[in-house]
Amino acid sequence: MHGQWSSRLVFILAATGSAVGLGNIWKFPYITGENGGGTFVLVYLLCIALIGIPIMMAEIMLGRRGRQSPINTMKLLAKDENRNRNWVWLGWMGMVAGFLILSYYSVIAGWAMSYIFRTGSGMFIGATADGVNSIFGDLVSDPERLLAWHTIFIVMTMIVVARGVKNGLEVAVRYLMPALFVLLLMVVAYSMTTGHFMEGVRFLFTPGKITQEGVLTAMGHAFFTISLGMGAIMVYGSYLPRNTSIAQATMFIAAADTIVALLAGLAIFPIVFANGLTPDAGPGLIFKTLPIAFGHMEAGTLVGTAFFILLSFAAWTSAISLIEPAVAWLVENKGVNRLYASMYMGIATWLLGLGTVFSFNIWSDKTWTIPYLFKDYSFFDTLDYLTANIMLPMGGLFIAIFAAWLMREKSSREEMDTTDWVYKIWRILLRYVTPVAVIIVFLKAVGAIGVVE
Ligand code: TRP
Repeated sequence: MHGQWSSRLVFILAATGSAVGLGNIWKFPYITGENGGGTFVLVYLLCIALIGIPIMMAEIMLGRRGRQSPINTMKLLAKDENRNRNWVWLGWMGMVAGFLILSYYSVIAGWAMSYIFRTGSGMFIGATADGVNSIFGDLVSDPERLLAWHTIFIVMTMIVVARGVKNGLEVAVRYLMPALFVLLLMVVAYSMTTGHFMEGVRFLFTPGKITQEGVLTAMGHAFFTISLGMGAIMVYGSYLPRNTSIAQATMFIAAADTIVALLAGLAIFPIVFANGLTPDAGPGLIFKTLPIAFGHMEAGTLVGTAFFILLSFAAWTSAISLIEPAVAWLVENKGVNRLYASMYMGIATWLLGLGTVFSFNIWSDKTWTIPYLFKDYSFFDTLDYLTANIMLPMGGLFIAIFAAWLMREKSSREEMDTTDWVYKIWRILLRYVTPVAVIIVFLKAVGAIGVVE
């Protein structure tokens, strides 16, 4: 009854589609800008290599072994390995995290969709930084428009989820992802002509200062960008045929994701510096910079329109994976069919998304503070912080502990089904490096205000 991908390629495409999304093109540039560039990028890359890759392998491995939604997979594996039943809570936390993330992810995806039409109408031809800035301001200050796009995006996502993820995803990832990649290269090419390209490169790759919170954000983002820590990759792994190399698939997904993020950085920061903008413009950064490129480059209206179409697709293939664990669980445990399961989750996510919609306008002065963690954050910032910086790394930490310490070596070795040395490196990283790194970053970030050089 539990489905399977029709081939190994489809799994890799679906997982890459999950990984590559707004995280790479929208979030990575703006948090890099807010956290001062170089060192932040370095910490992020280290986290991908030492924390992300081993955990991704673990998630796929657990998923394939359990063959169910993350909640039921954890229940089953805890039983098989004679471990405490409470491991099921790991599945629950992931499901909730996915739901929380989708609620704001959808709102941002709505921005990307609305930019298809802004760019398409030629609004940005000859654009100036000021003009682009006020166009963005008009969008986010209008709750009705944000709400309309949020609604459209949720409906689009739920349609695919209702049909079953396999059927909806293949075309989107097989053709549209590579196309997005090509357009990104075109923007990078434009950025090379701005005369500020090297300034962008220096900003991204020259180490400087970073705060403890910046380190936590970099680590959180490593999880966010390759979709780790909440069971999305686990549930995709559960549809994976036996004969696929988990290690190879992981390397491909992580590499593709990282390349897209770095290209986005290379596309955006030269435009920032060439137009006298500041890197720390926040969540609007790509919407305040890319239109300038589209307004000035050859065939910019066409390229820009296509770019935002493809970005919306990338967001959509990611969104599907955020809610799939919850839908899979409803289908398995509550006896609802996929259509209803998707509808229920869609409605719940839509409702929570209202908080993010309003946090950019009518609630913009409502803030939240959690002692030792953050102060005066908007609804959107609060959700983003709690999910990306806390829940995902926490989920990843427990996945590492379960897979590397509590699961019998025989089980994980059998399921990983890889060469001896790959298995050994993976296990050593997952036992000693990954959990320690996550814990250290957590502890240092709690209540930290200091700046480390
Ligand atoms: N990785 C996606 C992005 O970068 C977002 C995403 C999809 C995600 N599924 C996830 C993030 C699961 C965390 C967990 O846009």
